[in-house]
Amino acid sequence: MLDIHNFERFAEVETPFYFYDVDLFRRTADVLSALSETYGIEVHYAIKTNSEERLLRMLSAGGFGADCVSANEVVHAAKCGFDPSRIMFAGVGKTDKEIRTSLEVGIGCFNVESIPEMEVIDAIAGGMGVKAPVALRINPNIDPHTHKYITTGLEENKFGISRFEFEAALDKLKACSNLEMKGLLFHIGSQITDVSNVFGLEGKCARELVTWFEEKGLKVENVDFGGGLGVDYEDPDGQPVADFETWMKALREYFPIGGPYKLHIEPGRAIVAQCGSLIARVVYVKKGRTKNFVIVDAGMNDLIRPALYGAYHKVENLTAAYCRGDNTKDCVYDVVGPICESSDVWGEGRILRQTRRGDLLAIRTAGAYGRTMSSQYNMRDLPKAVYSDEL
Ligand SMILES: Cc1ncc(COP(=O)(O)O)c(C=O)c1O
Repeated sequence: MLDIHNFERFAEVETPFYFYDVDLFRRTADVLSALSETYGIEVHYAIKTNSEERLLRMLSAGGFGADCVSANEVVHAAKCGFDPSRIMFAGVGKTDKEIRTSLEVGIGCFNVESIPEMEVIDAIAGGMGVKAPVALRINPNIDPHTHKYITTGLEENKFGISRFEFEAALDKLKACSNLEMKGLLFHIGSQITDVSNVFGLEGKCARELVTWFEEKGLKVENVDFGGGLGVDYEDPDGQPVADFETWMKALREYFPIGGPYKLHIEPGRAIVAQCGSLIARVVYVKKGRTKNFVIVDAGMNDLIRPALYGAYHKVENLTAAYCRGDNTKDCVYDVVGPICESSDVWGEGRILRQTRRGDLLAIRTAGAYGRTMSSQYNMRDLPKAVYSDEL
């Protein structure tokens, strides 16, 4: 449950807005930092998940690195205090301009996704008179059993270099004198909840492929497992800090502590999802013939995950819980937004405390892939961010 002290002050803030629980964010970062030390795994936060400057500064001050997917993210990460040598840049479509900018910033690694990309980075680095640090992003062809739109490590996906190209990639690497080989990256998808099994499989596959590349004469210093650790969208308060330890243990099974490799992970969602809620106000409660609708002022432009992936977010009526206490009964509603699209739905058949116009609702677990994916569709304003310690 969100803190009542915050709730009382929510009334003064114009809705919809993102609310970030700074204490939970700090607690999550502290747990992860301690585990990173224990398991000897370096963490690079995937800043596409949530690029709020305030949150990024907390992570960079805590010694985390950054995983970026555009040059704008690279520049933003450096501005927010991340050590450039700990910034990675992945993405299948890096443009010449983005490659040049990233070399100027002095990033730690380009995670290269194709042979043509290797050629381009090599040429640009040569022209600038520098060596470009690169790792090969491997497409391991592993099914993470998550939504197909957030599965990235299958051969049918556009990401990484697939097995049939490994020999050609090695030949190209040898021919590119301006590339400095750093290692291999594996990232198989997002919102993975079968943690031990799926990451165990990733670790096993990575182990086999590292051996394969080494036998071919490639020096592999760094092994990066990407991100993907899932969170509990149904019960945000059950385990607000994600189970990073089970993840690290699964990866370490095939790369024991004390071995010759530097290990890296790139979590995004698991660091920030539970810290954020989208707060919306009920504009109307509308009776349909067979259903009742709660219409709120937050729409798919503010948080697109339900419309994009059919993603579930828990919805709570804060006003009923905090102001009307136990005197209200539970009712069944379709909770919807104001946008002119039938997919602008927060949840069908949701059980909420009896809801009235003006009530505040919290759409939970919205800290990841929320505000960064928001848009001005329907010419709406972008949602603001509000921090728990500012209220
Ligand atoms: C290369 C890479 N690393 C890390 C992440 C972060 O994933 P997650 O938020 O599931 O931890 C992504 C997400 O798309 C990614 O593509």
